[in-house]
Amino acid sequence: MEKKKIVVAVTGGIAVYKAVTLVSRLVQDQYDVRVIMTPSATKFVTPLTFQVMSKNDVYTDTFDEKVSSEIAHIALSDWADAFVIVPATANVIGKLANGIADEMVTTTLLATQAPVFIAPAMNVDMYANRAVVRNMERLREDGYRFIEPDDGYLACGYVGKGRLAEPEHIKEVLDAHFEPSDADVPLRGKRVVVTAGPTLERIDPVRYVSNFSSGKMGFAMATAARDLGADVTLIAGPVSLETPDGVTRIDVESAADMFEAVISRFDEADLVVKSAAVADYRPAVVADQKMKKQEGDASIPLERTTDILKTLGERKKGQLLVGFAAETNDAIAYGRGKLEKKNADYIIVNDVTNPEGGFGSDTNVVTLLGKEGFEHDYPATEKEQLARLILREIVAREWSM
Ligand code: CTP
Repeated sequence: MEKKKIVVAVTGGIAVYKAVTLVSRLVQDQYDVRVIMTPSATKFVTPLTFQVMSKNDVYTDTFDEKVSSEIAHIALSDWADAFVIVPATANVIGKLANGIADEMVTTTLLATQAPVFIAPAMNVDMYANRAVVRNMERLREDGYRFIEPDDGYLACGYVGKGRLAEPEHIKEVLDAHFEPSDADVPLRGKRVVVTAGPTLERIDPVRYVSNFSSGKMGFAMATAARDLGADVTLIAGPVSLETPDGVTRIDVESAADMFEAVISRFDEADLVVKSAAVADYRPAVVADQKMKKQEGDASIPLERTTDILKTLGERKKGQLLVGFAAETNDAIAYGRGKLEKKNADYIIVNDVTNPEGGFGSDTNVVTLLGKEGFEHDYPATEKEQLARLILREIVAREWSM
């Protein structure tokens, strides 16, 4: 088998020692590894360590051309199948986000067409710093992929998010990038449309009707579908959540906008997950000017919006339809009713009064209902993991041999 070619870019943080472990693991597992280092990285570990581990020359200086017939940073950027920055400091993240190339690592990264994975490591407050957050967002938009740091004890004495992901996990991410097995990506080749968040229905230019949906469960479903290999489009109502890497996001405002966005993608979809809390009613008339208060009480006439899931249920031709039912009482019975009425294949029932689930919470407690009485309870689980479990269950029932 041909070896995969990885450039490990090492920048200057105390977590550099973990990059040594990573390089060692990669080399043992049939990767061809070259290492480039920033000058500050060399203050923590010498290039010789990486040279021995990678069994290749280590590059630290843009002007130190080891082969006279080539330009090292261009040759390396062309050679690599992928780059991984381990650890990535706030400094290198800032430079990359702004196109600055002032030493070997940033110069090489600026020249490459290969995918670049970034594994940040820094103090918890630096990680939350607005400039750093902004730079990371920009890099995500530019197609860089992040390997999230862990929560835990940091070398600076703080406890929080910022600890470099473990070398084993970084290697798993790289392995999955190069050779996802069919079992890892059962949704490969499938198009998945996920809706998320609330919808917002305007009353006048300054007021609206909406609901408390945070969009977290829908974003978790989109992330899980992507992790399982699907081509994912996420249609999001107004929420303040980051777009998962590799997911196409379409922002909408009202139930009517969401209807348009979903229907126009329905024919090509294999699976539609309707996590959005779509408004059932909207103001019958939207005032073009701010409504002035009058003497006495007021009421706003509301009209029904289109039930998107029900419409999809009527029009479906082989697409799999998964809906949600947010309930406060008799959850299972209402959920079964929605499964039938909307002609969905599955309904994920969510008791929003449960303190461990529902709007805004990071965990959820749900029951997955399917046709012919299928029912599976999930205890309180982090939304991202829950989304993966639910999608795996559905895939196993629908698309496995
Ligand atoms: N849904 C939809 N379009 C609407 C309303 C709901 O597509 N106009 C979808 C939701 O995305 C969800 C499912 O229908 O997947 C159930 O939503 P829910 O609000 O729980 O139920 P409703 O159908 O609105 O029923 P009720 O308000 O009576 O509980």
